[in-house]
Amino acid sequence: MNPQMELQESFAREFSAVGDSQALEALRVKYLGKNGFITQALANPRAGNATPEDLLELRKALNHLKKNAGGDISRRGEELRQAEILAAEQNAPQYDTTLPPRFERGSLAPITLIQREVEAIFERMGFAVEDYPEITDDYHCFEALNIPPFHPARDMQDTFYLENGQVLKTHTSAAQNAIMRKYGAPLRAIFPGRCFRNEAVDATHDNTFFQMEGMMIDADISIANLIYFMKTMLSEVFDRPVKVRLRPGFFPFVEPGFELDINCLICGGEGCPSCGHSGWLELCPCGMMHPNVLRMGGIDTDTYTGFAFGLGLTRLAMMKYGIKDIRDFNSGALKTLRQFVG
Ligand code: PHE
Repeated sequence: MNPQMELQESFAREFSAVGDSQALEALRVKYLGKNGFITQALANPRAGNATPEDLLELRKALNHLKKNAGGDISRRGEELRQAEILAAEQNAPQYDTTLPPRFERGSLAPITLIQREVEAIFERMGFAVEDYPEITDDYHCFEALNIPPFHPARDMQDTFYLENGQVLKTHTSAAQNAIMRKYGAPLRAIFPGRCFRNEAVDATHDNTFFQMEGMMIDADISIANLIYFMKTMLSEVFDRPVKVRLRPGFFPFVEPGFELDINCLICGGEGCPSCGHSGWLELCPCGMMHPNVLRMGGIDTDTYTGFAFGLGLTRLAMMKYGIKDIRDFNSGALKTLRQFVG
């Protein structure tokens, strides 16, 4: 038998006996490694007194064997690897995923609950939900909202400045410009977010609170559209028809600007201690977007108008869940916060 046949047979025999990847690797080294049988035979074919033609044939056959052996080894290697992974998985410790957890279940914070609820309502009405960073700059927080550096309206929103001149956003309106630039007109979007102000903290004021801004820009948008969307949303949140009223309110980025009140949910508008006996509760500043603001957002004011509102999400959560002290939200007062699990 010629050396190539011998090699082929011994390789086939040993190959069929291989049972794991370690043995396979040993076999590869034995035949195809630097000093492997096939490699050596190719480098140094011992063929007695063979003619050059015989030698050529032998080289060809050895090369063929080398290629086949290499192919067999890598195919078998893949099979063994898969089998070994499966075996490792089967031998891993088993968990009964149906057992009750050994830790106490967490709950969603009331702000998250109300935010998701309001988002779902606006999404059904075709509004996109947008996210915006908590750190922004003076331009977005003030200037793009028609509040130049000297404007006294800045006093109402004193806030926290970073050393590099950036600012923690004082209201979700800070995103208006970026969102107009992102979508152009027409657009409908809401953008909830955490806001920061330098406040004297008491039961109804905190330095950190949540708002949800809304903006709708299209041809012929009017205050009637604003009232419709606010009324629809609030009636869904409170599960009953709510009445709203608008009072004039000043914000440099809207014209005209309003404070939107809802009729007191406790007394139904009769007047009670919760509403200061007025029958109304202030809930949401809003207005028609100022043309300067639209223009700074790249909107053509000959064609488009828009409304914007700045719903106080924290305020809404307090009203909906009857939370009396705003400080409960950020205090880690778990006893209070856990009651509202959806
Ligand atoms: N950004 C204003 C505030 O936080 C509220 C607002 C939003 C008013 C949109 C009008 C329109 O005080």
